[in-house]
Amino acid sequence: MAPRHFLDLDRFDAATIRQVLKLGADLKADRGGSRNALAGKTLAMVFEKPSTRTRVSFQVGISQLGGSAIVMSPQDTQIGRGESIADTARVLSRYVDAIMIRTNAASKLDELAAHATVPVINGLTDDSHPCQIMADVMTYEERKGSIEGATVAWCGDGNNVAASWIHAAGLFGFDLRLAVPNGLEPKPSVMAWAASRKARVRIERDPIAAVAGADCVITDTWVSMGDDAGNRHNLLQPFQVNARLMAKAKRDAIFLHCLPAHRGEEVTADVIDGPQSAVWDEAENRLHAQKGILLWCMR
Ligand code: CP
Ligand code: NVA
Repeated sequence: MAPRHFLDLDRFDAATIRQVLKLGADLKADRGGSRNALAGKTLAMVFEKPSTRTRVSFQVGISQLGGSAIVMSPQDTQIGRGESIADTARVLSRYVDAIMIRTNAASKLDELAAHATVPVINGLTDDSHPCQIMADVMTYEERKGSIEGATVAWCGDGNNVAASWIHAAGLFGFDLRLAVPNGLEPKPSVMAWAASRKARVRIERDPIAAVAGADCVITDTWVSMGDDAGNRHNLLQPFQVNARLMAKAKRDAIFLHCLPAHRGEEVTADVIDGPQSAVWDEAENRLHAQKGILLWCMR
């Protein structure tokens, strides 16, 4: 049987993603008696980029389910000396029960999945960050009920996290308005996928128009891991989420940010540390959402 990979949201149907989210929510609420569901199982985590949340939440998540994790980085494994992703996948599959990878090129994730005989989980690439958006949707729904039909505004870089939000708009059926500067739009392939799914995704140039009446406002760092800062700060300054912009959203709108945040750049301190911010619940929900993903992949 083919392994159950968790690679990107656009490869799922809505019912399956709902099932994975529910597994996570049930674990958070301690329903379902899954406490030792992954006893004796091992997760390998390959990090080719830094991480705080993804690393710790996966490690804690698998241990709470009775399993254990091994962290691998290029510096202290043969990956850093050029052993191929395909061979790494073949070997790891003989030792562990699932592999999570954070890497730059999405093609490496695909290569790992093609050669692994155990599930592969996308812990972020330059193109997407699906685990993050599972936690984000969980957070939205805890605070405000079903995300279906909601209006979500993204302000900033059309980056990997934005791409996974676009996938989520197609799956969960909400309006997504992306206020992004010229030249930092989401990849055409992601927009084409959204169009093919008739997802309600719109690019805006004016952040005020994007945020007007929104239920949720999101941003992310202006310079992602591996990006050249270039003139991004100048380009993105008008898209900063500050109190003036937040005031255009619904009064009970929430603010989300995957973190790490740069106060005074993409978001001001009064917003991220203010009453509408849900970022600490969002960070916590990485743990619960990923426990759902681990269970779905490995059980
Ligand atoms: N949001 C997120 O993925 O954080 P880390 O880079 O710390 O894992
Ligand atoms: N867009 C950011 C997300 C970090 C979790 C990056 O790729 O660096």
